[in-house]
Amino acid sequence: MIAIMGAMPEEIEPILGHIGEYRSYAIAGNLYYQGRYKGIDLVVAYSKIGKVFASLTASVMIQHFKAKKLLFSGVAGAISEDLKIGDLIAATKLCQHDLDITAFGHPYGYVPEGKVYVESDEELLFVAREVAKEKGIDLKEGIIATGDQFIADPEKKEWIKKTFDADALEMEGAAVAVVCDAFDVPFFILRSISDAADMDAGFDFDTFLESSSKISADFIISMVEKMA
Ligand code: ADE
Repeated sequence: MIAIMGAMPEEIEPILGHIGEYRSYAIAGNLYYQGRYKGIDLVVAYSKIGKVFASLTASVMIQHFKAKKLLFSGVAGAISEDLKIGDLIAATKLCQHDLDITAFGHPYGYVPEGKVYVESDEELLFVAREVAKEKGIDLKEGIIATGDQFIADPEKKEWIKKTFDADALEMEGAAVAVVCDAFDVPFFILRSISDAADMDAGFDFDTFLESSSKISADFIISMVEKMA
């Protein structure tokens, strides 16, 4: 069983479009769609926005649906100047930019028994590079910073860049990474850029959510095909 998750309906709808027939299960306030694609069993769901909902969905996919790998598809705000709207970035590692117990002498993003960065699975990154090569897609790789805030502020964005060396930011990836790491489930976080986390971010996000979500979802489907 491979899990594919997003945070919002727009992020998983293109995936469901590929699967065709599926069964729906309501668990803990979310719908989980189970189906098959090219002979592979899939469970697909959107979590709702933010780290808490993302952790819940990733946990259900692993514990209830017995997912052996988890792929995340969605959109992100760009930090790196290299990333333009519609570009794809695969996370090499992820951190929580809003996790702060620095008052106790710890670095930003760290709590005892945790780690600042959770590293992505190398095999899934390899599959992604192969797919990108075959399709002639310029897949970027970098650090993704996650927090329970929609960032539309150049100063805040600069702080996240400086503090975590991050290339893109969003609101779920690191939560999924922490859950998958705890359960020893290989994960892959893919994001297509919807905005630049600047003054125009709200408007750009609304404008490009659908198109960028589709770019990400299509790439994830190609990865599943490669794994079939
Ligand atoms: N996801 C997409 N754009 C974002 C932004 N600017 N802040 C947080 N999450 C995002």
